[in-house]
Amino acid sequence: MTERIALNHAWEFTEHWEDGFLRGWGVGRRVDLPHTCRETPYDYFDEGEYQMLCGYRRRLSVPERWAGKRVFLCVGAAGHRAEVFVNGEKLGEHRCGYTAFRVELTQALRPGEEALLVLRVDSRETLDQPPFGYVIDYMTYGGLYREVWLEVREQNFIDDVFVKPEVSGAVNSVVTLAGPADADLRLRQRVCAFDDTGTVLTEKRFYADAEKLSLKLTVPEAKKWDVAAPNRYVMRTELLRGETVLDRVDTVFGFRTAEFRKDGFYLNGRKLKLVGLNRHQSYPYIGYAAPASLQRHDADILKYELGCNAVRTSHYPQSQHFIDRCDEIGLLVFTEIPGWQHLGGADWKEQAVRNVEDMVTQYRNHPSIILWGVRINESQDDDELYARTNAVAHKLDPTRPTGGVRYLKKSSLLEDVYTYNDFVHNGKTRGCEKKRDVTSDPEKPYLISEYNGHMYPTKTFDSEAHRLEHALRHANVLDAVAAEEDVAGSFGWCMFDYNTHRDFGSGDRICYHGVMDMFRNPKLAAEVYAARQDAAPVLAVSSSFDIGEHAAGNRGRVFLFTNADEVRMYKNGSYIRSYTHADTPYKNMPRPPIEVDDFVGNQLAENEDFAPLQAEYVKDLLNYAARFGFSHLPPAVMARAAVLMTRYRMTFGDAYALYGKYMNNWGDAATEFRFEAVRNGAPAESVVEAPVTGLRLTASPSHTALTEGATYDMALVRLSMRDQNGNVLPFYHGGVHLAVEGPIAVVGPAEATLRGGLGGAFVRTLGQSGPAALLLRSDQAGEVRVDFTVEA
Ligand code: GAL
Repeated sequence: MTERIALNHAWEFTEHWEDGFLRGWGVGRRVDLPHTCRETPYDYFDEGEYQMLCGYRRRLSVPERWAGKRVFLCVGAAGHRAEVFVNGEKLGEHRCGYTAFRVELTQALRPGEEALLVLRVDSRETLDQPPFGYVIDYMTYGGLYREVWLEVREQNFIDDVFVKPEVSGAVNSVVTLAGPADADLRLRQRVCAFDDTGTVLTEKRFYADAEKLSLKLTVPEAKKWDVAAPNRYVMRTELLRGETVLDRVDTVFGFRTAEFRKDGFYLNGRKLKLVGLNRHQSYPYIGYAAPASLQRHDADILKYELGCNAVRTSHYPQSQHFIDRCDEIGLLVFTEIPGWQHLGGADWKEQAVRNVEDMVTQYRNHPSIILWGVRINESQDDDELYARTNAVAHKLDPTRPTGGVRYLKKSSLLEDVYTYNDFVHNGKTRGCEKKRDVTSDPEKPYLISEYNGHMYPTKTFDSEAHRLEHALRHANVLDAVAAEEDVAGSFGWCMFDYNTHRDFGSGDRICYHGVMDMFRNPKLAAEVYAARQDAAPVLAVSSSFDIGEHAAGNRGRVFLFTNADEVRMYKNGSYIRSYTHADTPYKNMPRPPIEVDDFVGNQLAENEDFAPLQAEYVKDLLNYAARFGFSHLPPAVMARAAVLMTRYRMTFGDAYALYGKYMNNWGDAATEFRFEAVRNGAPAESVVEAPVTGLRLTASPSHTALTEGATYDMALVRLSMRDQNGNVLPFYHGGVHLAVEGPIAVVGPAEATLRGGLGGAFVRTLGQSGPAALLLRSDQAGEVRVDFTVEA
């Protein structure tokens, strides 16, 4: 029976490869996997830092029971080229930093003896393989940044299982076997519901008399996998000799149809507009080296915090843990081969084709994956290459369509879906292009793979007006796409900010293109997406109502982002008015931003001795002036001002005095606005905007029950500095000292820096169990403690 042995702890690592390392000379540092070859600073670092020829080394004791078995080393990912050696002998290599690979070690191992396993890993961007060869807008961190394990197999084993479920309940699978022909071999397949593996829904035995077998089972009353109810099943495939199980492979799958049609995307026959974001797989300090729980956390953020139904894994295949979680929670995935604009020579292209092969075979059982990206992101047309990549994807997976991301209109379309980066929106222009103006074949489906991004970089500490514009641009595109019946959906650029090369970004090696910062703290734009989900109440107000933050003291437009049915607004305790999603300039998207344009309500009518028409006109004037100033009043407001002057004998002095009283409250109590979100008839959330009187440090951990499984666990603790009402302070910059108790360690600097009131810290387990805590101390806001439990 196959044994799978995790190999993530206690590697020896050197940043400076020398051939002696192969023979056990030289001393390395002890590291655990996932590992980044160089921990990097938050910003202002050179991309040369993580580029090196480095080495990983580990002793393997080869037990006697491995005699007669076949032993494979399996590597989740090695950034970016890896060679595998045992006792100095090279056994294999892999030339892609984003796909998994397997190298057979058998012939170099002697049962009962020790062996020296070494990986030479090259993370230099001079490598002649995708994505390298020209500029790249993201950092390409190196190292053994995913898990590594051994598979100890019998001579006969199951090499691959590809499950092709149909919503009727029929499950066709293609099983590939390895090993010598043997007439006594049988296969047994059974299917259980994922959450009830005790009940076998169907089971069958087959002759295992060929290398490739097409098998068929039927699951009665198969439940569909859908975004709302992601029902999963497990196919257990066993290779038997008599009653002895030689190998066992469990494949998780789901019954669903996912079709791109010329008029949109259909999941299980129902039209569904894809609303997603692009995700890179990077983190501050640790680069790509994030263990399972952080990968899963990102999927949860996309679905539960950002209300997305889809994600694009720009620009490479990402962790199986991330995609597993997408399967589990019902988040649709568009994944693609590594690359960024550049196409290399013949060898380079050969590798690109191999990357399609690896991507498809390694990920094709995931129900969440709905589309293969088989072009290099934003590359030029290359019919010869792309005819090959399409053919490979279709051959290895006849069940899914291909796409290929381009910024070119009307380009050569060999894929099934035209996937286009639509950057037409600049804040003023239309939200998206028409399908017919972009695609070269109107009969084929059309999907927008990116929008916004570099069109409007936005920092968490940018001005209020800038942050609002960023959010509205996301709403503008989503609203425009919602109106286009024949656009399958869109993926915003992007989920979070990321470190990038010197050619891109803001000069500090950061691209501020995210709707979140690098620690996954939301910017205002995140709320456009968040308002789409139902799990938790959402209410965000675009303004702090501090007039000094705006030119000429005019507060500009104000918006609410909410999933509530109604938002009630109060000023200094008095009810002003209530807003709903009907109060919006947006006409197409669900739950659009709501515009707040009345800061006075009925107060004039109630407090002043005004005629009804007079009260209404004064209110209009004040509300306009509060947002845009008294100078340059538009004709409609001017006309009302004229009526107030002539019919009601009011003067500009009166208007200014009323403005002072109803807008500024100068000299009186400070103005406090309170917004109360009402869902299903009950108050669900509130936001209070008032002058800041106190600072509060808050810490929100990704999870507090840390578990060591195949490797260490790591938690991301999102940090924020807030006011007495819980609002993030966007202009707070300061340090937070980090210390730990118990069996955990801080990863990254010992001092966290809050930028724009936001930051984060990582803690990891160390192999021992027990209670632990992260202690946070801010000079201005005191101490906060985050408790963890560690199970090792
Ligand atoms: C696209 C590219 C992305 C990112 C984005 C910024 O052209 O595909 O990787 O650079 O622009 O908006």
